[in-house]
Amino acid sequence: MVRNLVDRLFRNLHDGRQRKGPSRHSGTSRSSTIDSDLRPGSHDLMMIRLETPRLTLLTLTVQQMRWQRDDFARLEQALGLAPSGQKLEDELRPIVSRAISQMRRRPHHARWHCQWAAVFKEERRIIGSLAFKGPPDREEAVEIGYGFDPSYHNRGLATEAVGEMVRWALSEDGVETVIAETANMNVASMRVLQKVGFVITSATQRYLYWKVSGR
Ligand SMILES: CC(C)(COP(=O)(O)OP(=O)(O)OC[C@H]1O[C@@H](n2cnc3c(N)ncnc32)[C@H](O)[C@@H]1OP(=O)(O)O)[C@@H](O)C(=O)NCCC(=O)NCCS
Repeated sequence: MVRNLVDRLFRNLHDGRQRKGPSRHSGTSRSSTIDSDLRPGSHDLMMIRLETPRLTLLTLTVQQMRWQRDDFARLEQALGLAPSGQKLEDELRPIVSRAISQMRRRPHHARWHCQWAAVFKEERRIIGSLAFKGPPDREEAVEIGYGFDPSYHNRGLATEAVGEMVRWALSEDGVETVIAETANMNVASMRVLQKVGFVITSATQRYLYWKVSGR
């Protein structure tokens, strides 16, 4: 996968800063569930699939994230996608590995740790990755991060994906707010958040902090 695609996304995601506090998440998705490989004792999660006009957003299981890390073509094959020749950046491998171990340790929170693949329907190709940083915290907030292939930038695709993921998250039990962090030079990401309805809650010299609420 292209360097910039998920660089900043993964730097912020799965960075070891785990939320404290119990989640009131029920563990039962109200979203469209198409496939279950949730076997007793399995560390995989029930696959969640969200649809937007141009994208399908899919949660990746532990096995699929292993393929994402080690054998991208196998992941594409497993998802029935066209082979693209993509591969995960070497520097992102430990980050995906860390997410996998979180999913294994906390399988009931897998959906909040896993990678979500954004599949561009027209080309049957993965063009972006999104993820939440962990399960809802004490304030019932989850943090979202994302990155898209530069070849597909400025077509509204990230906005479409983030909007749908936010809608989904806010429909989950125990989630009242979705938060996000952007470098204050990252105009494209700021614009995505604005278009989805996020507002700035605080700022430092380098970062802006955003939120959108369900009520
Ligand atoms: C941020 C990112 C996901 C946006 O993806 P995208 O698919 O291009 O986003 P969209 O097309 O939905 O929206 C981008 C918006 O930013 C605007 N934009 C992009 N670059 C801009 C710039 N330099 N100045 C002003 N506006 C800019 C676009 O015009 C568009 O706004 P518009 O619809 O009002 O015209 C993509 O740039 C990316 O992957 N960046 C690297 C990873 C990253 O930064 N992730 C976010 C971490 S918080």
